[in-house]
Amino acid sequence: MPLIWFSMFAFGLHKITALAPVFLGVVAVAGMPASASSQQVPLPQYTVAQVDAGEEIFQRVCAFCHESDLTGGDQGPPLSDAYFASSWGGYPVAEFLSFVRDEMPLTGPGSLSDDAYVEVVSYILSFNGIPAGEIPLTMGSPGIITIVAKD
Ligand code: HEC
Repeated sequence: MPLIWFSMFAFGLHKITALAPVFLGVVAVAGMPASASSQQVPLPQYTVAQVDAGEEIFQRVCAFCHESDLTGGDQGPPLSDAYFASSWGGYPVAEFLSFVRDEMPLTGPGSLSDDAYVEVVSYILSFNGIPAGEIPLTMGSPGIITIVAKD
């Protein structure tokens, strides 16, 4: 079950796998309000300029493991489509940002500037169909990652 396996890694549960069933139960409950009422949920905000900068960073720093088209491979999981939707759909973007900053790149967590992290995350959000806007994404930005998986 690579999906579950990777999800557990995504939340750092490789350190405390014994808690996985409890944790996954909490995720299921926490994820429900977002998917049940996606109309009222505020989307994360970011700009096209952030996406452009983030694409360059992604291709330079992250694509080696996640592939240039975000489909993943031997070195890292996908960051797109159904995989991303099931991993991060319904989560606050601030939580996603913290995860990426604290865990990625795998070879140097926290090694980018906060600006670079919000840019690369903007690129991932854009890739997954969340529309760009006028308000830049910042580390503590509000908004819920509300996405519909593409087939
Ligand atoms: C050396 C390989 C490597 C590099 C470089 C790397 N990653 Fe990862 N990434 C992984 C692996 C392996 C996992 C799964 C294990 C984990 O979550 O700790 C992962 C997991 C993730 C996840 C969670 C995926 C999910 O939903 O399960 C995200 C998001 C992510 N990486 C983003 C990035 C970003 C953004 C960069 C560039 C700044 C990056 N990664 C660079 C290997 C890498």
